[in-house]
Amino acid sequence: MLSAAAKVNLVLEIRGKRADGYHELATVMQAVDLSDRLVLDEAPGLGLAVNTDGVPCDATNLALRAATTLREAAKIDRGVHITLDKRIPVAAGLGGGSSDAAAVLLGLNRLWGLRWPAARLAEVATALGMDVPFFLRSGAALGTGRGEVLEPVVAGALALVLVNPAFGSSTAEAYGRVTPAMYTDGSRARKLAELLRTRQAARVAASLYNGLEAAVASHHPEIERMRAALLAAGALGAAMSGSGPTVFGVARSFEHARQIRARLTRASWRCWAVRTLAGPAVRMRTSTMSSLGRGQAARRGTLDPVFGGSNPPAPTTIGRGRR
Ligand code: C5P
Repeated sequence: MLSAAAKVNLVLEIRGKRADGYHELATVMQAVDLSDRLVLDEAPGLGLAVNTDGVPCDATNLALRAATTLREAAKIDRGVHITLDKRIPVAAGLGGGSSDAAAVLLGLNRLWGLRWPAARLAEVATALGMDVPFFLRSGAALGTGRGEVLEPVVAGALALVLVNPAFGSSTAEAYGRVTPAMYTDGSRARKLAELLRTRQAARVAASLYNGLEAAVASHHPEIERMRAALLAAGALGAAMSGSGPTVFGVARSFEHARQIRARLTRASWRCWAVRTLAGPAVRMRTSTMSSLGRGQAARRGTLDPVFGGSNPPAPTTIGRGRR
């Protein structure tokens, strides 16, 4: 069993357009304890089952593409059946698909006995998407280049509220609407990376920034409404995550985050109170990884494992969206 955490971008700066068509970024990514669950079973071929409507099970699913790409890169003839219990909203700016892909890479590295070092897995991860390498690692990171060049950031714990409007946003379209007027120099990301050490939620909240927000919000007025609602409910600051449309707010404490969530009453929004993760974004319980039946645990509702590590996901808070 694998747990694959979501992320938020506390800062996302676009520094310019690159010759390869991507944008040069400076971003601070932070893992949070809203997580998908994956079970990997040995199988003759490659297969995927997902428990959520609207999530593709075909080759466009990044979890399945991760398995295909790793199998080709390793030049081996092994299979896997992936059971994906989706809790992170899709196309939400929270990196859910990328985290699932990273979990598959880490899980198959064990299941297939590849013993690849992190750097070799990171190459495959980058081929799948610029957010994927972050999820091979832990906690918080400063991302430069296309977002895939990562420096770890020492971060104090934060409590956040995520608000998702139950529609998706295309990353490629968001970047397609960027104009040079939206470029910034990367200093906000560096400053925030320093601030994160201090555990001062109010200062972090005052320094949130997303250079893609104007490009996305002009097409989705709901984004401004979510931000205003978070601030009215007591959030210290709020910003869109990634290419949206999820907006997050910073709270003083986890209890405060729960209060803010309770005040967000719009029925069409899904809201979560979450904590930031200091440890790995992907967690693994190897003893059961290949022995759990396909999704049977998911159907029985026994998927909240006891993970090792210092910062386990809090099962009472994750995935409890109000619909
Ligand atoms: O890396 P990923 O596949 O998630 O990116 C999706 C799309 O977002 C890319 O095809 C590109 O159009 C855009 N993008 C970008 N600059 C980045 C990352 C993504 O323009 N640094």
